[in-house]
Amino acid sequence: MSEREIPDVTVQGVDVPALGLGTWRLAGEDCRRAVETALELGYRHVDTAQAYGNEREVGDAVAAADVDREELFLTTKLVNGNRSYDDVRRSVEESLAKLGTAYLDLLLIHNPIQRAPLTETLRAMDELVDDGTVRHVGVSNFDVDRLHEAREAADHELLTDQVQFNPYWDQTALLDYCEIHDLVLTAYSPLGHGGVLTTPCWRRSATGTASPRRRSPSGGVSSTRTSRSSRRRPHASTSPPTERCSTSS
Ligand SMILES: NC(=O)c1ccc[n+]([C@@H]2O[C@H](COP(=O)([O-])OP(=O)(O)OC[C@H]3O[C@@H](n4cnc5c(N)ncnc54)[C@H](OP(=O)(O)O)[C@@H]3O)[C@@H](O)[C@H]2O)c1
Repeated sequence: MSEREIPDVTVQGVDVPALGLGTWRLAGEDCRRAVETALELGYRHVDTAQAYGNEREVGDAVAAADVDREELFLTTKLVNGNRSYDDVRRSVEESLAKLGTAYLDLLLIHNPIQRAPLTETLRAMDELVDDGTVRHVGVSNFDVDRLHEAREAADHELLTDQVQFNPYWDQTALLDYCEIHDLVLTAYSPLGHGGVLTTPCWRRSATGTASPRRRSPSGGVSSTRTSRSSRRRPHASTSPPTERCSTSS
């Protein structure tokens, strides 16, 4: 492995780069430059969403990068308003055009909203897999019950549930479910929007200094965890983890 290479995690026989670049809140030239730089540095997994309004800039960066399309793992997400059968089909065509790609590696339902037709949405997503427009489908922000319901409703196995996962956000039940059923749990906001870095735990165990920013991984990333990495998962907690950290760092 070269020093720039990010390892894959494998579920359902699918290799997914373990670390991805998240693009939430990135816009315009900043977004294009961030994605282009990330690709230069070795990132191969880029996470965007229709709701982020930056698919075109992500696409521009991908087009400018010296990376074969087959090496990339491109994810986008259906905005809540695009959940009917027709809207899924139409909006994915628009996403493909903006991203400048013939196919998506992963298409997610962004949120489990009640008013949206889950079965209808998944039927359209299944068809996109059947016709090769989308390689894999999944969900985001689904709890265990909703994830199970979605898996039952879909023809194709869901690859992932992308959820907030960091020491302040307990996802143990979901992680266990994903391990049992060979799904990837994709962690968003792994740094708790940066808040994790200000805890005594991080300062002691990861840097040993009072200025973690210089030594920590870059922000805006979406990392992926599976059963193979579960032993290294942070102890999730909804309260500040000072006590736990003092015993583990
Ligand atoms: N599926 C969903 O519903 C959903 C929701 C949220 C996020 N996501 C995905 O997950 C990605 C990551 O989310 P996130 O931005 O909340 O991730 P995060 O890694 O938890 O937070 C990153 C932010 O932490 C702050 N930060 C403070 N100190 C830092 C340091 N030393 N190093 C790096 N960052 C530091 C930065 O904010 P400042 O720039 O303000 O300093 C940075 O933007 C998103 O881009 C998106 O792709 C998905």
